[in-house]
Amino acid sequence: MKERFPQGFMWGGATAANQVEGAYDKDGKGLSIVDAIPGGKARLSIVSSPEFDFSLDTERYTYPNHKGIDHYHRFREDIALFAEMGFKCYRFSIAWTRIYPNGVEQQPNEAGLNHYQQVIDTCIAHGIEPVITISHYEMPLHLANAFGGWQGREVIGHFERFARTVLERFGQQVKYWMTFNEINSAFHFPIMSQGLTVKTGALEPQAKFQALHNQFVASSLAVKIAHETNPEIKIGCMILYATSYGFDCNPVNQLAALKERQSSDFYCADVQVGGKYPYYAKSLWQSLGVKLDIQPGDLELLKAHPVDYIGFSYYMSRTIYATNPEAAAAHGNLLGGARNPFLEASDWGWEIDPTGLRIALNELYDRYEKPLFIVENGLGAIDKPDENHYVADDYRINYLRQHINAMAEAVEDGVDLMGYTPWGCIDLVSMSTGEMSKRYGMIYVDLDDNINGTGDRYRKKSFHWYKQVIATNGQDL
Ligand code: BG6
Repeated sequence: MKERFPQGFMWGGATAANQVEGAYDKDGKGLSIVDAIPGGKARLSIVSSPEFDFSLDTERYTYPNHKGIDHYHRFREDIALFAEMGFKCYRFSIAWTRIYPNGVEQQPNEAGLNHYQQVIDTCIAHGIEPVITISHYEMPLHLANAFGGWQGREVIGHFERFARTVLERFGQQVKYWMTFNEINSAFHFPIMSQGLTVKTGALEPQAKFQALHNQFVASSLAVKIAHETNPEIKIGCMILYATSYGFDCNPVNQLAALKERQSSDFYCADVQVGGKYPYYAKSLWQSLGVKLDIQPGDLELLKAHPVDYIGFSYYMSRTIYATNPEAAAAHGNLLGGARNPFLEASDWGWEIDPTGLRIALNELYDRYEKPLFIVENGLGAIDKPDENHYVADDYRINYLRQHINAMAEAVEDGVDLMGYTPWGCIDLVSMSTGEMSKRYGMIYVDLDDNINGTGDRYRKKSFHWYKQVIATNGQDL
C-alpha cells in the first residue's frame, strides 16, 4: 500500500513552558507576563480592559500558570509517556525568565539552563527529537513594564542575548527551533504575544506594528545565530493560521477575506520567509496611520536571514462577512468572523474544519514553497473520566483523525509537510481561559481549574489510538 506520509515524518506533541511547568518562582526563575495574568473564562476580557497592568492581585484572582501541571518536576514521567506513544519529536518552549529572570541580566541563570539540559537529555535518551520554541507567550514581566513590551527597541538586544545563550548551549543537540510562537497573534491578543496592555498601546496599530518590527529583527538575529552555531539547525517562524472564507460569492466579501489574509495571516510570514515587507505593507500602514521606526541595517538583516521552514498552528477557520457586520460579530470563534453554516463548533465555539487544514497547507505551500510543520492542532474539550480515571475521548480521536486525513490529502496534493505535533498532548492550562477543564491531551492530568488534585497522569483512549497512528506512519487511523 502506498505510504500516506513520508518516511521520517515527525509525529509528536506540543506544549509551552508557561502552560505546563508551574514552579513559577523556583530555582531563580523571574516573573513573566503570564505569571501576572489571572485564570478563568474572563481571562481575555480582564487583560483587555483599560485598567489591566500586570500587577499580581492574589486576593482577587487565581493564577493557574503558577503551578501548571508541574511538568518542571515531572517531565521525566511525561516524556516517558510520550515515548510510549512513539513520539518522534516533542515541541516545548524555554521560559525566558528561567534563563534571564528579569531579561536584563548579563549572565544566565545556570539552574535554568541545567533544567532544559535535563529535558533535552531525557528526550534524546528516548529517541525523541526536541523541537524548541524560543519564546512562547511569556516575556519577562520586567521587560514588559520597563519598555512597554516589544514596542521598546531595547528588548531586541535582551532577546538576542537570551537566544544566543540557548542556541549556543543546546544547538549541537537540538536541530529544530522556532523563534516566536504565533507571532501574528499580535493582531488578536497582543498582550500575550507582545507584552502590550491597553495602557501601553494594545489597541493602537502603531504600537503593535512597531513591536512586530522589533520582533522580526529579533527573529532574524536568532536565525543568524542558529545558523552560525550549527549549519545543521533548521529554524522556523511560527504563525497562527486560520483559513479565511468570504461568506458568499459577493466579490465584496471575497475581497474582504483576501485583505484579512494579508493583514493578519500572511503579514508576518511574508517578512520572515520572504525576507522583506510585502508589497501591500505600505498601504496597510498608511490606512492605519502607522509610521515604523526602521533603523539602518534592519531591512538588510531581514533579507539575509529568512527562516528555514514554516511552523503553524491550525485550530479553526473563519468566515468573513463584510456586507453583514452584525452577523460577522455574532459568533464565538476565538478569531471572530461570522458563523459558518457548514461547520460544527467545539464546546468553546471554535469551528471545526479539517478541509480548511488542507486548504491552509496548500495556501501556505503555494505562497512560500518552504517545508511546513503543523506544530499545533487539536480539540479543547471537557473530558469525563470514569472511576478509574479513564477517558473514552472518541470526539478527540475523531477530530484528530479528520485532520490527519486532511494532511495526508495535502501531502498527496504535493505539499512538503515535515511533521505534526498536536497541541497539549498532555492536559495543560489553557492559554485563552487559564482553565484546566479545556483539555487537549491524550494524557489526562488529575487537576481542576484551581489546580487542585493529585496531578497524576492517566492514558486516555486517544493515547492508544495515537500510538497506533504513529506506529503505522499515519496509515491506521
Ligand atoms: C495557541 C497557543 O493559540 O492555541 C497555545 O499557541 C494555546 O498556547 C492553544 O494553548 C490553544 O488555545 P487555548 O486557549 O484553548 O489554550
